[in-house]
Amino acid sequence: MDFSKIPHPVNFKFPPQGTFPFTTELKDFGNGIWRLRIRHDSEETLPGESNLPPDEAVLTPYFPSENTIGNVRFEAGRLRVFSPQGTCLLESAKEGFFGTAQNSWVMRFTPEQKNEFYGLGAKTGSLEKTGMRTQMWNVDAWGSHGVFACRDGNPDPFYANIPFLLLKRGHEALGILVHNPRAVFFSLNPDMRLHPSQEKVEGSSFYWGSTQGPAEIFLITGQDVASVLRRYGRLVGTTPRPPLWSLGYHQCRWGYSGTKDLERLDFEMTKAGIPCDGLWLDIDSMDCYKVFTTNPKTFKNPETTMAKLLKKGRHVVTILDPGVRDEKGYSVRQSGVAQNAFCKNSNGDLYRGFVWPGATLFPDFSTDKGKNWWKDQVCAFSKKGFSGFWLDMNDPSTGSVTQEEMLFNHGKASHETYHNQYATGMAKATRKGLLESRPDTRPFLLSRSGSTGIGQYAALWLGDNFSHWRHLKASIPMALGLSMSGVPFVGADVGGFGDDVTEELLVRWVEAACLFPFFRIHSAKDAKEQEPWQFSKKALARIRECIQFRYRMLPYLYETFMEHERTGAPVMRPLFYLGKAAATIAPSHFEDEFLIGDNLLVAPILEPKTQSREVQLPKGDWFCLADEKWYAGGKAFDWKLKPSGFPVFVRNGSLVPQFKKNCATSTADLDLSRAQLPLYIKPGFKKTVVQEYRYDEGEGFAYKTKGDTVITLVAKPA
Ligand code: GLC
Repeated sequence: MDFSKIPHPVNFKFPPQGTFPFTTELKDFGNGIWRLRIRHDSEETLPGESNLPPDEAVLTPYFPSENTIGNVRFEAGRLRVFSPQGTCLLESAKEGFFGTAQNSWVMRFTPEQKNEFYGLGAKTGSLEKTGMRTQMWNVDAWGSHGVFACRDGNPDPFYANIPFLLLKRGHEALGILVHNPRAVFFSLNPDMRLHPSQEKVEGSSFYWGSTQGPAEIFLITGQDVASVLRRYGRLVGTTPRPPLWSLGYHQCRWGYSGTKDLERLDFEMTKAGIPCDGLWLDIDSMDCYKVFTTNPKTFKNPETTMAKLLKKGRHVVTILDPGVRDEKGYSVRQSGVAQNAFCKNSNGDLYRGFVWPGATLFPDFSTDKGKNWWKDQVCAFSKKGFSGFWLDMNDPSTGSVTQEEMLFNHGKASHETYHNQYATGMAKATRKGLLESRPDTRPFLLSRSGSTGIGQYAALWLGDNFSHWRHLKASIPMALGLSMSGVPFVGADVGGFGDDVTEELLVRWVEAACLFPFFRIHSAKDAKEQEPWQFSKKALARIRECIQFRYRMLPYLYETFMEHERTGAPVMRPLFYLGKAAATIAPSHFEDEFLIGDNLLVAPILEPKTQSREVQLPKGDWFCLADEKWYAGGKAFDWKLKPSGFPVFVRNGSLVPQFKKNCATSTADLDLSRAQLPLYIKPGFKKTVVQEYRYDEGEGFAYKTKGDTVITLVAKPA
């Protein structure tokens, strides 16, 4: 794959003006969801693709009420999309809308200066994507782009690609999902000149398309960003409410290999008074990197070790790489071969790559056989006592071997047809395995890669980052991008994965990330140790405070996940999610501040050697949890971090359900029914405040029949 360029319409054939020789279907599903499908000749005639693999995206376009929202018109080969307010937000290009070239297709549009673009899954660089030319192709970033490009640049594409674009113009918005798992490309008004001295190239610079497969798009209309994102979230499927423990703090490191590490971590956490729910094992916990095995030297009695830890509220999560060591006599390999579960190459032989265990075979998740076989392995392995699984290298990473020969659907479908869906297929099968092994327990999975709809099955982390300030900063726009693309459960490797973290960076990173939806400290094998106690007592105290703060805020965080499950709203939100209230916010603060739900705003310090930063809050009043003062939104101000405070602001008139300070060693000590329910109301506030607190048991599926418990609070102005 050549990632540096994407197809350009200049080499596509567009039908002459006024003609449109393609069969086209425009469907209004109601509630702001529209689908446009254009049948093009090459769609089903690709050589060797009569047996296409499944579409892993499970889209649910029908919502209970079906009022038409917005207006999409397709007439005489011309597409126009109007917001409910009547603004034309998307208009096909005057020179022609739909073109084809061999198996590729493209849709092009009239650029509009005021458009802003967001989403597209996990993208490096700024939150707003104008100027981007990008392709959806999941990669193992260090393997494909090299370590230096990943450390110092903005490599693209990255691990998880989701062809969802949020187009925003002023306060209006439109969602566009290209429903095609292949190498979908987007061109968002880049400057196409080779040198700035050339004349500007205008016209054909806003387009998207795909190198193969269906020309099908979903258009999601709505009053504003929030309503579009909520509808999109429901269309691609929301994340089922996670088990409460998975929202706790997780400690990981490449090198943790079994009993000794797990027991040491439990001991140190207890000694340091740091609440912790997740203890993670990396590849050294396997026998010779063989998936579904445990290391006989370092992890002798996994069942006993994990049962003991679980009693103390520590959940063990271990890594699952899809590559299965090609070693005769290894039972996992043998059963996979016997059940025809692995990918084939064009010669009909098993496809081989080279990953951690050496020569590896790859489960073919595009087939029922592959999925079922994997599910059975997960089911059996999880019974040892693992609480969840970490799905890594599922981009898929095949090491030094190219991937064209890795075919799907029993060797009948080309690599491209399923490449981007590999991680999602793996996540689906793993979730099923966990549910089969423990039907009453909510599965928890963390995945590196993903495609449209991955959020239904797994949380995502942002892949291998570095212990650098730049990467701390970058974690906010990337997590927000994924969050807007339908993946609410996101987080970065806190402290950074590659290179050595410093005390200051680790402390600042923990401050910034302790309210991220997913919160895990992780570092690479050759990097400096990164546990909270590896630096001064002062640093340890600060990290402890931040983690305790996360536990205090868990009822609010959990409730925001419940809101997501119900409505599709992201958990982590950009400030512009609040619409007009955020109208005066400088774009730079969309990248360095974020919301959790609508009521908590985090403005972390992201620069070295400083105790202060510029903060700008959306209109209204906000209560600072650090200095317990009210701040007015609108104008930017300088804000000084208090030594024992958090860069967190609470919206006036809101309820932030929370636990008492320092009340837990893990979520096992916590009961959501015992949360405190403080209302944050500025003295003199003139409105009646009505707020709800919703909760359940934090585990299991009883809520599905019983529903949530809801407490309503009302406060009238004095
Ligand atoms: C990959 C993962 C990283 C993990 C390492 C070893 O680089 O992204 O998180 O620690 O492999 O398994």
